[in-house]
Amino acid sequence: MHTPAAVTLLPVNGAPEHSKLLAGIAALELMPGQAAFVGEPWPMAQKALADPHRHLFAVTAGTAAACTIAAPATAETSGGAGRAVVGMGILHVNAGRDAGWADNDSAILLRGFLIDRRAQGLGYGTAATEAAVGLAQGIAAELDLPAEGVVLGVNEDNAAGLRAYAHAGFADHGRYLGGRSGPQRIMYRTFHTP
Ligand SMILES: CC(C)(COP(=O)(O)OP(=O)(O)OC[C@H]1O[C@@H](n2cnc3c(N)ncnc32)[C@H](O)[C@@H]1OP(=O)(O)O)[C@@H](O)C(=O)NCCC(=O)NCCS
Repeated sequence: MHTPAAVTLLPVNGAPEHSKLLAGIAALELMPGQAAFVGEPWPMAQKALADPHRHLFAVTAGTAAACTIAAPATAETSGGAGRAVVGMGILHVNAGRDAGWADNDSAILLRGFLIDRRAQGLGYGTAATEAAVGLAQGIAAELDLPAEGVVLGVNEDNAAGLRAYAHAGFADHGRYLGGRSGPQRIMYRTFHTP
């Protein structure tokens, strides 16, 4: 695997570069068949923008590889010199049960997480998952939530997702059959300890 520059997660709501981040997210593309694992990027982003419990973030990176992504997602539209939007995700509070977790509030749900097809396999997914734990921890502190970690559901056939999450320190907490896209693994990681 390549060693990419560190990713930066930028919350979309309230960001000075809000519209530029949205333009980058609108340009994200999946590989054929991958929408079954996650859904289409733009509709998920729109749904998050309309729901105060869903905290939408852009995954940005600054390597040359990232900047080969199509024009709308290049540095000019991604809100930072030399940085490109390479992915997105949503931290959904009070929604753990959506992924088969035992309750809604002891973990923040990471959903709608994806890396653009042109930037996959470069380590961004692993780095962004790790960074999402820190972002979720900040949200929990800011909103005074009882959450102590991050939970997610990943399709059992999603090899890249399973590996990225395991590399980022997520542990398997069993199977969930309630999702709309086939059997899922429930994966969880506690927040960073100070
Ligand atoms: C899952 C996803 C976010 C991973 O992002 P990524 O940037 O490609 O991940 P990384 O580059 O950090 O690679 C993570 C691991 O997956 C492996 N991997 C990458 N693409 C793979 C593929 N198509 N098949 C199998 N393994 C793959 C990598 O080799 C790496 O494992 P290794 O370090 O042990 O070799 C990305 O593939 C994606 O957006 N997929 C479509 C949407 C999706 O499935 N989202 C998750 C929903 S839960």
